[in-house]
Amino acid sequence: MTTRASGAADQAVDGGRIDAHLAAFAELSEPGPGCTRLAYSPLERAAHAVFAAHMAALGLRVRTDHAGNTLAELPGAGAGKDRGDGGDGDGGGDSRAIGTGSHLDTVPSGGGFDGIVGVVAAMEVAEVMVRQGVPHRRPWRFVAFAAEEGARFGQACNGSRMAAGLTGAADLAGFTDAGGTTMAAAMAAAGLRPDLVDASRWRPEEWSAFVELHIEQGEVLHSSGVGLGVVDVISGSTRLRVRAEGRATHSGGTPMHLRRDALVTAAECVLLGDRLARDPAHDGVRVTVGRLTVEPGSITTVPGAAEFYVDIRDTDPVRQRAAARALAADFAGAADARGVRLATETIADTAPVVLPDRVSAHARAACADLGLPHRVLPSGASHDAQQIGRIIPTALLFVPSHGGLSHVPEEFTLTPQIVAGTRALLATLRRLDGARV
Ligand code: GLV
Ligand code: MN
Ligand code: MN
Repeated sequence: MTTRASGAADQAVDGGRIDAHLAAFAELSEPGPGCTRLAYSPLERAAHAVFAAHMAALGLRVRTDHAGNTLAELPGAGAGKDRGDGGDGDGGGDSRAIGTGSHLDTVPSGGGFDGIVGVVAAMEVAEVMVRQGVPHRRPWRFVAFAAEEGARFGQACNGSRMAAGLTGAADLAGFTDAGGTTMAAAMAAAGLRPDLVDASRWRPEEWSAFVELHIEQGEVLHSSGVGLGVVDVISGSTRLRVRAEGRATHSGGTPMHLRRDALVTAAECVLLGDRLARDPAHDGVRVTVGRLTVEPGSITTVPGAAEFYVDIRDTDPVRQRAAARALAADFAGAADARGVRLATETIADTAPVVLPDRVSAHARAACADLGLPHRVLPSGASHDAQQIGRIIPTALLFVPSHGGLSHVPEEFTLTPQIVAGTRALLATLRRLDGARV
């Protein structure tokens, strides 16, 4: 039995409410271009409070866990019961939850859609379910994950990793932001209990399925004119911190053959990364150096030190790790040739995840039920769904990113596209509510 026959609910998804939520979250930003609401900052916590207040006003039970994830639950008709008859024959009865959600933090000078769209869609789905009294069997859980962006601490998807048991309390002092604050300290300053995050691990046996809606952050949907994507595989990422130490000396007094210029070495490493990623032997890998600092940073001093971060992404874990190893070796060779000392450290490593077709099939069928064209595509970015997918059957839906832009102030998705994505999300969750996955 499925409930999808009563199709009116998805028509109640309201673009005006969605726009109002997006605008409210966009207000919660540091000054400057775009939206800046960093992981475990007071602004991120304020955004979680907005989500919590909306869900509480709808009558849902809301809580924030020790990792800073905020969860709201709409009880199911079968709540508390594990139907011995198997109901849908899944042996887990109706008490196993289905869930949806995404994240509310942003990168520095990011946009107002990455992550936010999935949380706003969750808020809208909850509102439609409550207002329309949509019948459902399972508990529905709506989640705003904490600290998804790796921009502050290097590792991405922190809240969902803690929920999935992939990052624990013992790890949190090991991640540091540019100002030297550890993730544990930032969490404590935000009123959380980093020492207790292991207790916030989700129990897979409580869950049936999870679905995240997100913007694509690439241009496949935008350029093909298709409004919805169903993701089959999510890229992994390996992140390196590289420190080159040469010798700081006078820029006028030091002849070229006596220099040990750390920035020139770093520049060679940047180009080595770009070259490797364009080499057909590594086809599919993306290599980015997005942060580089130079010491002492004086116009008239040969750079004595340079530190940079390399982000290596691929949908193939073997190619991803092979690229990271090859780059570390290439970097060492480039540094040696210039008499520069080089230290390369892996600060984060997440494998790609293939999402199970048995959940994605419901997303594809939901799109078909609604007459909304979709295409199947991989995700180049990381997502909370990637981490949750390790413990719960998970699907990931995409809506288009205008011009493929993301992590910049120009990031944009049209409201009707978000409405269509939210309708597809609701229809997918309703199918899963009645399904065995
Ligand atoms: C998340 O946006 C990522 O960096 O992949
Ligand atoms: Mn995101
Ligand atoms: Mn992002």
